Amino acid sequence: MSTFDFDKIIPRENTDSVKYDLRTETFGRADVLPMWVADMDFETPGFIRKAVIKRAEHPVYGYSILSNDYFDAIIHWVKTRHQWEIKKDWINFSPGIVPAINFSILTYTQKGDGIIVQPPVYFPFFDAINSNGRKQLDNQLLNKNGHYHIDFNDLEEKAKHAKLLLLSHPHNPTSRCWTEEELKTIGEICLRNEVIIVSDEIHNDLVLPGFKHRPMATLSDKIADITVTCIAPSKTFNMAGLATSSVIISNDYLRKRFRKTLEQLHIFRGNFFGYVASTAGYKHGGPWVDALMKYIQENFTCLGNFLQTSLPSIKLTPPEATFLAWLDFRGTGLSDKEVKTKLIHEAKLGFSHGPVFGKGGQGFQRMNLAAPRSTIEEACHRLKKSFA
Ligand SMILES: Cc1ncc(COP(=O)(O)O)c(C=O)c1O
Repeated sequence: MSTFDFDKIIPRENTDSVKYDLRTETFGRADVLPMWVADMDFETPGFIRKAVIKRAEHPVYGYSILSNDYFDAIIHWVKTRHQWEIKKDWINFSPGIVPAINFSILTYTQKGDGIIVQPPVYFPFFDAINSNGRKQLDNQLLNKNGHYHIDFNDLEEKAKHAKLLLLSHPHNPTSRCWTEEELKTIGEICLRNEVIIVSDEIHNDLVLPGFKHRPMATLSDKIADITVTCIAPSKTFNMAGLATSSVIISNDYLRKRFRKTLEQLHIFRGNFFGYVASTAGYKHGGPWVDALMKYIQENFTCLGNFLQTSLPSIKLTPPEATFLAWLDFRGTGLSDKEVKTKLIHEAKLGFSHGPVFGKGGQGFQRMNLAAPRSTIEEACHRLKKSFA
């Protein structure tokens, strides 16, 4: 029995929650079961809330610094959870990973430069490239019998015309936890073609039992030299609202250039609630994350079993990491528009629409499983009523 209660239902309406309070704007109705935005319906762990409350009780909310305690907690976590020894000096503050991706694009590329993405992928990658006037190069993932692979021949081709690769690792939405061999091949292609890798490892802690996250920068010294790694406690501990994350860059030249961009934009610090929450999470969060991922795995099993027995026309992509289920609706014979309409207006389910994830997203929907088991069961019930 877990000592943490992931079954608890926590009302989130009217808390200025994107997932709950933007339902009307997003789905046209407020009564969908929200399973879209990638935050969790579980409590942010007690040791984090306690640290934030303690800081909140101090009566002065003035300017504050990133303490040694904050950096030590990150260094310790990365070493113990991911067997990667990083130095304090390598760590750069960022108010989020999407901002960090934009800072990287501004730092390492010029207008018109090619940037590779691997769709179907987290769609803000596209906005970051296109809104900065860079050229999006799609290295579309190959779906072989429901399992996703990288098209390395195509990656090699695209790399000839690119300055940067935006890697989602583990991959959102396909749930792939890239293997050492896959990462090595990516790294070698990027080295050969002088492509910098921005490795978005925001889901690095959310790996299902039986899988292991390997940080891109640990593959070799040479690969580390071309890699900018983005990590955060936001997904791990359900604290995205505190906008605190880290960009780890071991190469002096790449780091200096990145810092120059931060200085130009005057990004030195975030908010101290984010710092104390990160420190508490990284210091005490191991057992909580282990229990969380066990629970998420059971949610995946619950959904997978249900689909197999009751709705075999909808297929679950084999999960490896993240709390996001990538569902293949192509077997239903319905168009994307029909699926979307049925989900929202018949089943009253708020999923993320596959086509927004770019090439290969057609026919798919993304369902957020970071919710109590009873919510997953309710969603299955609604799916059955509408799609059986
Ligand atoms: C792959 C990936 N990167 C970045 C983010 C968001 O990062 P942030 O909120 O820190 O900007 C998400 C959130 O879903 C994500 O899935």
